[in-house]
Amino acid sequence: MAQNRKLSTPLSLDDTASKLDEQTKAQDLSANTASPGARLTDNMGHAVSDDQNSLRAGVRGPTLMEDFLFREKLHHFDHERIPERVVHARGAGAHGYFQLDKSLSAYTTAKVLTEVGVQTPVFARFSTVAGSRGSADTARDVRGFAVRFYTQEGNWDLVGNNIPVFFIQDAIKFPDLIHSVKPEPHNEIPQAASAHDTFYDFISLTPESMHMLMWVHSDRAIPRSFAMMEGFGVHTFRLVNAQGHAHLVKFHWKPLLGVHSLVWDEAQKIAGKDPDFHRRTMWESIEAGQPFEWELGVQVFTEAQAEGWDFDVLDATKIVPEDLVPVQRVGRMVLNRNPDNYFAETEQVAFMTTNIVPGIDFSDDPLLQGRNFSYLDTQLSRLGSPNWPELPINRPVNRVANNQRDGHMRQTVNRGRVSYEPNTLGGNKPAEVPQARGGYVSYPERVSGPKVRARAESFGDHYGQARLFWNSMTPVEKEHITRSLQFELSKVETRDIRLRMLGHLERINEVLAAQVARALGERPRVGGTARPGGTADSAAETAVLAAATTPTSASGRLHRAKGLSQEEGQPRLARGRKVAILAAEGVNAAQVAAVSKALTDAGAMADIVGPHLGALAEGVVANKTLANTDPVLYDAVLVPGGAASIQTLIGLGDAHNFVAQAYKHAKPIGALGEGTELLTASEIGRLLRAIAGPAAGAVQAPAGRPDAVQNLSEVGGMRLASGAGAQKLAEYGIVVGQNGGTPAALTAFVTALGHHRYWGRPNVGQVPA
Ligand code: HEM
Repeated sequence: MAQNRKLSTPLSLDDTASKLDEQTKAQDLSANTASPGARLTDNMGHAVSDDQNSLRAGVRGPTLMEDFLFREKLHHFDHERIPERVVHARGAGAHGYFQLDKSLSAYTTAKVLTEVGVQTPVFARFSTVAGSRGSADTARDVRGFAVRFYTQEGNWDLVGNNIPVFFIQDAIKFPDLIHSVKPEPHNEIPQAASAHDTFYDFISLTPESMHMLMWVHSDRAIPRSFAMMEGFGVHTFRLVNAQGHAHLVKFHWKPLLGVHSLVWDEAQKIAGKDPDFHRRTMWESIEAGQPFEWELGVQVFTEAQAEGWDFDVLDATKIVPEDLVPVQRVGRMVLNRNPDNYFAETEQVAFMTTNIVPGIDFSDDPLLQGRNFSYLDTQLSRLGSPNWPELPINRPVNRVANNQRDGHMRQTVNRGRVSYEPNTLGGNKPAEVPQARGGYVSYPERVSGPKVRARAESFGDHYGQARLFWNSMTPVEKEHITRSLQFELSKVETRDIRLRMLGHLERINEVLAAQVARALGERPRVGGTARPGGTADSAAETAVLAAATTPTSASGRLHRAKGLSQEEGQPRLARGRKVAILAAEGVNAAQVAAVSKALTDAGAMADIVGPHLGALAEGVVANKTLANTDPVLYDAVLVPGGAASIQTLIGLGDAHNFVAQAYKHAKPIGALGEGTELLTASEIGRLLRAIAGPAAGAVQAPAGRPDAVQNLSEVGGMRLASGAGAQKLAEYGIVVGQNGGTPAALTAFVTALGHHRYWGRPNVGQVPA
């Protein structure tokens, strides 16, 4: 990558960034970056001799007004907070670069999309929508996916989400949508959750939200990592080329690690065990030298093509199916540097949909048009001054020059007596830039029409693409959507609202509606095929859902569409995964070393989780304890051998919990040598023996033996690790290896880790929470 790097062609005017590469923004920020100094001073530079005691009249007397050091310190502290974002308050960001591989010069003049090989610095921020700044990362919610490109032609912000559609068609409904999903105003409950009455009251009265609703009940709303989610510009934008011809475009980010998610039970537990789960994963991964990476994709099409479709591309509740217009991958974004300061960078970054560059333009999507007002407007409330664009994270890398002046906290010291245009006193600088030299000119779209408050008829189909999405899901994805709707609607206290929601679901799919109805204690009004629901792993229910599809509309005449299921065609890599290695004193050190090496080689990370921190065997040091971490924080669990270690772990409920939760959440489980005994001794031993087959399952405790339980688990462990039983288990992502067979078992474990989850494990619902 680095060898292919080019510097951007300088523009012919002065005042533009003449050189652009990955470092450009970092160098720009460095002017404002401070490392700790040696001498403690106040803000006016006075050296401080005592930072422990305020100035008093006598050691037990009152504090003196003249204590300027005390007052300045408290004054600053008292005003440290700024309003959090009204939406997307909870987020985390990182720096990196975007590098174009394929020029889009046929469609646009934007240099960021035409200069192959140039590294444009970027800052990306990922967020949830509903929760407050201190809420948990893993709430069921849309994720914001906002990327700022610091291009040589000014900032371009692609302020997107990880879901390609939105709840509403017109921005005038945005305050209503957000008020309904936020904690209810009388008691400020619930935090970062849509499972409450006001949200479903609004949604059930807003049928245009049904397509988006299917997405937020899918696994897309509980991503495993920011690096494992797609990003979408959502709206249709316009690209304009050097001849002035326009094409329409949808922007996509495709994660190199594939799209993968948590399971809902796990997401809720993580919210308590590590509310910083997503930001921590990104921070640690970047610190460990593993960047987060996506490819930028575009769907380019013409107005004429769009006119032929049975949906409107200006309607943000609709996708353009990839079957109609394939996604061309044109470049790559690499996030490889953590911010130096959360507040200065991630909190103060102010994205705006109106940050676009020549060659990119808006469409008339009424949601986008409304956003174009809202983002600029909100920055004043949050950042407190029209000078917020001067903040280091917000200023572009090319030179800003205009006649704007003054205002709170003005940083720039503008020279000269002229602050207007046109002028002769200042040589009429800065001067307007003609289009031919990079001045922004809007696409001269022809518009006319009566002033009306009305929606186009072409925005009228609210269920067709919701059905397309449903039809495109795999059986397990349908099951997850069903469970999620059952969960959320069961928390709605007003029956009328629940019934209204069932009415909408019936129009999406009758079997889905019937399954949800049963969980709500309602008789399904339509659809006779549903089985009683309620268990977590009813194979019968999955089968019924698998067969349930519905005719579509507003979908390009497709019955199902490519790219919607996240189970299909995803890269399955161990990279970026985290494994818990369970160990106690006497663990087999050679096996731990082999496991650690295999995981490092695959780009995965591991914690050694022991009964206590510190040394457990030669070269094996526990960095986490069974008490301070939790199985939900890992992608897989591995239990190495070592007789003494296993005896200790068998005696600890927390160790049992690790393997049981991993089984419940469909995660790979590995056991080497005596490690298999922990599996058989745990609550899932019975389930594993049932999978492994009659030979292992038939092992009985010999009569009259006081050590029977221990021996039973040993014998069971050996049986699990042998032949056909082991093979059967491996199909469900449970990799067992005898002491001699470690290399093969490790390879199988690393492959299983990349597989992500093993759905369809029997009797998952029997594993206690
Ligand atoms: C397709 C629909 C939408 C998407 C993809 C979207 C995306 C986002 C994202 C990613 C952020 C967080 C920016 C950051 O990281 O700082 C954000 C913030 C925000 N959005 Fe939206 N949004 C959408 C619709 C709307 C609408 C319709 C409005 C208002 C009419 C709106 C108003 C806001 C506001 C006021 C903020 C806070 C901005 C800040 O404080 O920096 N959004 N949005």
